[in-house]
Amino acid sequence: MTDSKVERELRDSERNFRLLVEGITDYAIYMLDPKGYITNWNAGAARIKGYAAEEVIGKHFSVFYTPEDRTAGRPEKALEIARAEQHFITEGWRIRKDGSRFFASVVIDPIYENGELVGFAKITRDITERRNALADLAESENQFKTLVGAVTDYALYMLDPSGIVSNWNAGGERIKGYSADEIVGQHFSRFYTPADQAAGRPARALKIARENGHYDEEGWRVRKDGSFFWASVVIDPIRNEAGELIGFAKITRDMTERKQAQEQMMQMQRQLAESQKFDALGQLTGGVAHDFNNLLMIISGNIHTIRRDNLNPKSLRALQAIEVASQRAASLTKQLLTFARRQSVQPRPVGLADRLAELQDVLKSGMGASVALRLDIDPGVWNIVVDPTEFETALVNLAINARDAMPEGGVVTITARNRLAEQQVDVSVSDTGVGIPEDILPSVFDPFFTTKPIGKGTGLGLSQVHGFAHQAGGTVVIESKLGEGTTVTIRLPRGPEDAKAQVEQPSIAGSGTVLLVEDNPDVALASTSFFEQLGYTVRWVSDASAALDEIERNGIDIVCSDIVMPGKFDGVTLAKTIRERKPELPILLTTGYSAAAVEVAGQFPILRKPYQLHELSHELQKLTV
Ligand SMILES: Nc1ncnc2c1ncn2[C@@H]1O[C@H](COP(=O)(O)OP(=O)(O)OP(=O)(O)O)[C@@H](O)[C@H]1O
Ligand SMILES: [Mg+2]
Repeated sequence: MTDSKVERELRDSERNFRLLVEGITDYAIYMLDPKGYITNWNAGAARIKGYAAEEVIGKHFSVFYTPEDRTAGRPEKALEIARAEQHFITEGWRIRKDGSRFFASVVIDPIYENGELVGFAKITRDITERRNALADLAESENQFKTLVGAVTDYALYMLDPSGIVSNWNAGGERIKGYSADEIVGQHFSRFYTPADQAAGRPARALKIARENGHYDEEGWRVRKDGSFFWASVVIDPIRNEAGELIGFAKITRDMTERKQAQEQMMQMQRQLAESQKFDALGQLTGGVAHDFNNLLMIISGNIHTIRRDNLNPKSLRALQAIEVASQRAASLTKQLLTFARRQSVQPRPVGLADRLAELQDVLKSGMGASVALRLDIDPGVWNIVVDPTEFETALVNLAINARDAMPEGGVVTITARNRLAEQQVDVSVSDTGVGIPEDILPSVFDPFFTTKPIGKGTGLGLSQVHGFAHQAGGTVVIESKLGEGTTVTIRLPRGPEDAKAQVEQPSIAGSGTVLLVEDNPDVALASTSFFEQLGYTVRWVSDASAALDEIERNGIDIVCSDIVMPGKFDGVTLAKTIRERKPELPILLTTGYSAAAVEVAGQFPILRKPYQLHELSHELQKLTV
């Protein structure tokens, strides 16, 4: 290669290079002399800064700086640093020829020749757009932060990959009670209940979120003050562009109120279903019991008729067996009727303290020697208004259940307490027995539900208690713990202040004519036999209008009428009519069951069918004194 060729090639290459630099339009590329005066200028510089080469060459490069930067000596400083550090990079606002500003990215490199500074290479790029985009992004991030920070209905916060809380919003503070200072840097598992923590639920939640890309659940969480709230929780993993996990976004909502509302609703539905079940069962059992009572009336009436004959000892024993069985049947139907709330109750004010003291012996004898009975009666306990017989039956039923629950013996406690706020009286029977398993607890009040062996229990005891309590305007509550015992509480409305004790009277024979109003001939026959045994003469009619005719004819001393009868009048209407026409004529109503009986309670005495001879006698005594 000859020298001239080398020179030529070098010249060519330099020229090409110059053309390249001059042609570049995206970058302003130009040179300064050591003092900062511009020595050349490319197309990019012309485009970006607006000066043509001839306008600007020879000027000091500080013309591109803002007045503030010039006053602060920035141009000189830039050259100084470039010289000292061989390189200077900066970003900042610069000024175009037309005075408008642009945001520049600037690089300045010193140029040396034979170890001596001959100038600077300067490259400037217009990055206004990028800067604006970044500024927009920063602003939108800021707005987003403000938004998230201000949301109070949701706790919105982030966790690092290990579960440490890395930020916190107002909702987090409101719902969980921690301020940001207190919680940022702590592990999020502290929001879980101790049981959930022990079961490893926090870690499991993050694992599921990581693996499935999402996690949501509802559950109890703990506030700073230790109280629980029902939370709806969502956890989403956050990944960077490379797909690496950088943390989790967590959204928590306090659903406690909604959950409570839901539970209330379910509770109401359960109660409704419960009362519908009891209504339906009540209809059925009430109907059966009603018909059954009429049959029993006939049986027991005829027993008394037969007994008057001279029977041989064998027949007499048979008759006694029938009598015992029919009495047992009568008490069963009574329980059924009470459950169905169709028992024709005769409620009156009852002094609890006295009544329970009276019942003590009956209850004790029913429970046997291995069971101790304790009474815990609040001395100021209010009166209640109940049918005393039903009340007694209920207590006996509860006491017997308690006894059966304690085969090894134990203690039965009967308590009576006032509930001031509710104006109710609680009478409870507690035992220290085996308790009731949770799964059968909802069934114990159902008629015929029993866990006792055949022949030992009919499953009507608690049904009677339930019906009694409701018919008396109250409720019954059962609490039981397996192996520890059971408490059944009858909750009754407060009664009036004074409860007059009624004096029991011995039965004595009466006399006079009874008008018997009864539509069922067999029942009429049985009843007639009772009246006759008590020394009365009986005239029998089968409906109300016949009864009124008979009364017109005079000679009637007592009217005894069934309540439920075919025809225009039922027994109650008949009784009211008679009272209008002949107020002095005593009237006794009898019934197997009747809702109407509740209505007349107190106006006329009512005798429940099937009745025993002494019960009839007793009622007639009261009528004729
Ligand atoms: N105090 C109690 N302790 C444990 N279980 C009880 C208690 N009271 C009732 N129960 C359970 O409830 C069931 C129903 O009781 P309920 O009194 O209605 O019927 P029963 O006692 O089985 O029969 P009945 O009372 O008609 O003779 C019982 O069989 C028993 O399983
Ligand atoms: Mg029982």
